[in-house]
Amino acid sequence: MIVLGIETSCDETGIALFDSEHGLLSHALYSQVEVHADYGGVVPELASRDHIRKILPLIEEVFAGAQLNKSDIDAIAYTAGPGLVGALMVGAAVAQSLALVLNIPAIGVHHMEGHLLAPMLEESPPEFPFVALLVSGGHTQLVKVEGIGRYELLGESVDDAAGEAFDKAAKMLGLDYPGGPRIARLAENGDNSRFRFPRPMTDRPGLDFSFSGLKTFTLNTTQKYAKDGVVDEQTKADIAVAFQSAVVDTLTIKCRRALRHAEMKRLVIAGGVSANTALREALEAMVSKEKAEVFYARPEFCTDNGAMIAFAGCQRLVAGQRDDFSLKATPRWPLESLSAID
Ligand code: KG4
Ligand code: ZN
Repeated sequence: MIVLGIETSCDETGIALFDSEHGLLSHALYSQVEVHADYGGVVPELASRDHIRKILPLIEEVFAGAQLNKSDIDAIAYTAGPGLVGALMVGAAVAQSLALVLNIPAIGVHHMEGHLLAPMLEESPPEFPFVALLVSGGHTQLVKVEGIGRYELLGESVDDAAGEAFDKAAKMLGLDYPGGPRIARLAENGDNSRFRFPRPMTDRPGLDFSFSGLKTFTLNTTQKYAKDGVVDEQTKADIAVAFQSAVVDTLTIKCRRALRHAEMKRLVIAGGVSANTALREALEAMVSKEKAEVFYARPEFCTDNGAMIAFAGCQRLVAGQRDDFSLKATPRWPLESLSAID
């Protein structure tokens, strides 16, 4: 089965063609980063308008890349939520219109299920069951995964998501959006012994997270060392590495706790923050001590992309699931409410 995947939930237009027999055939991505850079975050109305401009040219690009015609595909998968409603509507409308014209089924995919399954696009995919750490701009969740659609939430952030904390800390250091990769780059020059930020909620039991305190800590440290409102580059780098280490340590401690709690030996990390090298290294070290394994996608499939939506949709379509012809755009949609496939 060949599936066209469409991702438009936030500020990336991602399109891909996935074949259940031959794997990923082609994919294309357009990032709106420059559109939103001046605003320090994603502006929903601008995001919708940019998806409208880019979605059809990108669809043409992936068909050309795979040397396929529209009539060669069997189904369409699009992100139906969670996300920005206007942005979601663009993908939903294009997906359902194309499905109607081609007389093929369409399915609305949960964006976080897309992230969660993305490591399965890689050469040695994880087998079920596993514990998943989902770390994106909007979510920080630990999930026990028994199979597709069989998700049990073990813990989540009570305030900011990990990616959101990176973005906010970056803003305080005068870095552009998205802050995660920029903090990571700055942290490479930082002295990790100069500042020690707290590891929130690690000294009490449980699998929930809180990252808003780190934001305050970053702000206070930045203000303390500002001279005439300016923080020198070395101090910025030292703050960046202290912040990153606090997030990485916190996530690592909770992942170890979740593996032990679920009595599992496989950890999957997914979502934009899972592209972070320091996090990957810390988790590799942790799992090797626990005699466990960690799985993640290549960096371009950690952040938003069409391949993960085509893949997740394909799994459900192959199992016989389909949506009716209504447009589905669900800004809030709990992962645990998804139906299981056999
Ligand atoms: O999964 P994603 O592309 O979009 C959402 O579903 O939210 O995640 C985006 C988030 C942003 O907050 C961005 O700053 C963060 O992922 N991010 C990173 C890195 N690359 C992206 N955070 C830390 N280190 C990175 N290398
Ligand atoms: Zn995402």
